Amino acid sequence: MNFTWEVPTRIHFGTHICEGALAAERNCLKGCKALLVYTGHTLRENDTLAKLQGLLQENGCTEVLTYGGHGANPEISEAEAAGKQILKHGVNLIVALGGGSAIDLAKGAAVAAASNISLRDHLVKGIPAPSAILPLIALPTTAGTGSELSKGAILSDRELKIKGGIRGKSLAPKIAIVDASFTWSMPEKLTMETGFDALAHAIESYLSRKANLHSEQLSLQAIRLIGENLPKLKRDLSDREAREKMSYASMLMGMNLYNVGNCLPHRMQYPIGAATGTSHAMGLAALYPVWIKEEYRACPDKVMNVFRYLLNRTPHSAQEAEELMANFLMELGLCVSLEELGVKEGEIAAMVEKISGDISVDPAGGEDGICSKLYIAAM
Ligand SMILES: [Fe+2]
Repeated sequence: MNFTWEVPTRIHFGTHICEGALAAERNCLKGCKALLVYTGHTLRENDTLAKLQGLLQENGCTEVLTYGGHGANPEISEAEAAGKQILKHGVNLIVALGGGSAIDLAKGAAVAAASNISLRDHLVKGIPAPSAILPLIALPTTAGTGSELSKGAILSDRELKIKGGIRGKSLAPKIAIVDASFTWSMPEKLTMETGFDALAHAIESYLSRKANLHSEQLSLQAIRLIGENLPKLKRDLSDREAREKMSYASMLMGMNLYNVGNCLPHRMQYPIGAATGTSHAMGLAALYPVWIKEEYRACPDKVMNVFRYLLNRTPHSAQEAEELMANFLMELGLCVSLEELGVKEGEIAAMVEKISGDISVDPAGGEDGICSKLYIAAM
């Protein structure tokens, strides 16, 4: 099988490696005026933000401004406000500290500062990010989104009730510092949710028609690591070896996001997030059992392999695949229906209309009416 593989981001990985990684990147930091984008209060309260500001300055940044976003589901208005700060202060380096929301917000800010059209136009019309945007250094504090390596920025437009991606190769961060110690303070729910997101990237990039020999190997490795380590963290959040392995699996799947991409659940989650304001992972979790059942019908051998790597089990029917996935989600505390997330049956048709992106890469994506069928089954 022939394939092309690209990872444009320079990666520093490990536990307690942030200081050394920033020192190694002195040449990139020297003389830069940086905007440090983060989300939530925790990073400010536990001094991580101040410490990073200090390290950036110690390693050559002349000034480090900060921009705090609200949290999950970053808004285009926030990204545009950060973009204005970039232009106003002559910022020439963006640093993102936080989960996928912070990194996506930083990417959105970079686009807003470089583009001559609005972020809404990028989002609604699917116009790619400009090819020349400011360099971004991403420091993920969760293990799951893969945004530190991906070429997408997932943003929401509350007014239009739209959530979607701005895409483009320029959106891949220049440098990713994946320090697992940043994830140690994640509470249980966030750990399970972001870990499940990484699993979703692994399963979807494995089943995708765009998968190749290399991406499949990475997917299977990530599925095994997550199957072993996410339940361990459910039992003991202080298991640091499990934390590091989850960070590693998540980072591997960032490579697959860049090179392969996702399938139906990710396309279908965005309208759920936009309609209900619920998290990315919970929308995925609501869809996963009913979706994997359809995937089993479309490509049983691959789905059997997913469960062999995840649970050491082989489902012998679509129904059994659905049950195994539902049980796994139950074990993680993520079992939920769309109705419980606040979706009304009457909203489904409008949600189907808002699905964007190529769904034909999904083995079951070609079936007529598949999206409304899955939404209804997930109620
Ligand atoms: Fe995701």
